[in-house]
Amino acid sequence: MSVAKKQYKRITVKSLIEMKANKEKISMLTAYDYTMAKIVDTAGIDVILVGDSASNVMAGHETTLPITLDQMIYHASSVIRAIERCLVVVDLPFGTYQGNSKQALESAIRIMKETGGHAVKLEGGSEIEQSISRILTAGIPVMGHLGLTPQSIYKFGTYTVRAKEEAEAKKLKEDAKQLEELGCFALVLEKVPAKLAQEVAESLTIPVIGIGAGSGVDGQVLVTHDMLGMTHEFNPRFLRRYLDLYTEMTNAFKQYIDDVKSVDFPNEKEQY
Ligand code: KIV
Repeated sequence: MSVAKKQYKRITVKSLIEMKANKEKISMLTAYDYTMAKIVDTAGIDVILVGDSASNVMAGHETTLPITLDQMIYHASSVIRAIERCLVVVDLPFGTYQGNSKQALESAIRIMKETGGHAVKLEGGSEIEQSISRILTAGIPVMGHLGLTPQSIYKFGTYTVRAKEEAEAKKLKEDAKQLEELGCFALVLEKVPAKLAQEVAESLTIPVIGIGAGSGVDGQVLVTHDMLGMTHEFNPRFLRRYLDLYTEMTNAFKQYIDDVKSVDFPNEKEQY
């Protein structure tokens, strides 16, 4: 179903805030390379996130911790070369901003200068307040990320739903308010109860984009490879698969192998 919406030639951080004010939901997907970014942008996505989930999806690591700033810059600059309309947000990887606001600013500047990205995303609340403030002083837009923050997986121990207990929910609400007051232009809320996410979204003027956070927020984000069904092992309740590309691609590869072995490929028309 197509939904009536204002036509934006280019999406900016201001467009997202306007969408929230106009009750238009924001669509966001990940991309890490030129070809995927081109398809996602052409389809009309509002935001591409060059997520540090590239560490899992592209490099096969178990967590997002190993990916480096140089690797994120490579992914983000490939995405930027593909896009014409959407806003591109780039994750600052683990170890490039926590506990050192000078390093945080330097990392964010490298992202902006070397990739042409439009904004950065950082995980955490009050504990990274100084890093966020310092990045903002350089005029770099910052997206926050609360709830399940995968860079802290070894602190949480599991990838289960966050903020189910009152104390954690209270801290999350305070952090969300603080991120807005600091000047973040938007916030990702990952894997938290839908009721809490809606409460946070309603209490802020900046957009709250959810992943596993229900429908009461201002937009949704998914990892593209998951929603296309290219990954098989990851089956959280919140994930809607729009295709089963794992099966489709496997069948195509098998067919190609058979065609090569049987000398069906290339045929007369496929050679010079
Ligand atoms: O890295 C990522 O893909 C993310 C999304 C899951 C929000 O941070």
